[in-house]
Amino acid sequence: MFPSHRPRRLRTTPAMRRLVAETEVRPSQLVLPAFVKEGAREPVEIASMPGVFQHSRDSLRKAAVEAVEAGVGGIMLFGVPAERDAVGSGATDPDGILNAALADLRSELGDTTVLMSDCCLDEFTDHGHCGVLAADGTVDNDATLEVYGEMAVAQARAGAHLVGPSGMMDGQVGFIRNALDEAGFTDTGILAYTAKYSSALYGPFRDAVESQLKGDRKTYQQDPANVRESLRELALDLAEGADVVMVKPALPYLDVLRQVADASDVPVAAYQISGEYAMVEAAAANGWIERERTVLELLTSIRRAGADIVLTYWAAEAATWLDR
Ligand code: PBG
Repeated sequence: MFPSHRPRRLRTTPAMRRLVAETEVRPSQLVLPAFVKEGAREPVEIASMPGVFQHSRDSLRKAAVEAVEAGVGGIMLFGVPAERDAVGSGATDPDGILNAALADLRSELGDTTVLMSDCCLDEFTDHGHCGVLAADGTVDNDATLEVYGEMAVAQARAGAHLVGPSGMMDGQVGFIRNALDEAGFTDTGILAYTAKYSSALYGPFRDAVESQLKGDRKTYQQDPANVRESLRELALDLAEGADVVMVKPALPYLDVLRQVADASDVPVAAYQISGEYAMVEAAAANGWIERERTVLELLTSIRRAGADIVLTYWAAEAATWLDR
């Protein structure tokens, strides 16, 4: 009898397929990135990210509570300040929008979720770069670390459980670890943006935070051509004390994610970024793909490639689908 091996037997019924599924996506593995805008009275939908909002402090609180009730594992917060300057003063100010909104969420949610905060200057600088600039206009790595250290301490004080340095400065994890420890925040963790590529797919996010950037971030974010470099970044972040490491973007970098996951001895996250979200939403709005099936397939792929945690703008909605 030919064929003697019939893999299709394990695909015959939904129950059989469920029994043999190797990868599962659970709501608690999903983290919702959220935007809060200083001075906003109403939430404003982001044109390039339909269904995602620049929140007011009030609407953020409500959205966060809903997401936690839906079962998401955490919230990653980004701030959109009303004013910007060359050194990103709003980032270290305890009354700055990101720190104020973090404090709101911590008092509302306590320890019922994991609060994360973007520890990067690009939202707060008037030139839009992730750090402070040297006299020649380049991003000054070591001067930026000083500000990141202060920013991390302000975020920890405001209630972040994990700070997320996303600026790709050399030494950022170790510097922030020291700053947190010296300020007594030994239990505040670091979600390290370990492999962060200079991607065209960040476009909608830059709308979301009203980025002032002209030019690009190629002198600090990684070249999409490289993977070995990510393993080097991983080794450095682990040595510097990262509690969780992350690969970003997700879908175009599943190979990087797999290699990082195989080499990491701490949990691995992947960030399904704004452009990944926008592509699916645009195609679905045109009726070209099935939205829910596509989103679940992408999340499953990211988990299968090795992510323990997925940051996704669909976190709250996907959590309700997965619950069914
Ligand atoms: C930088 C930062 C960026 C994103 C998260 N943190 C943008 C950038 O590097 O330009 C992008 C996230 C997304 O596209 O969804 N603070």
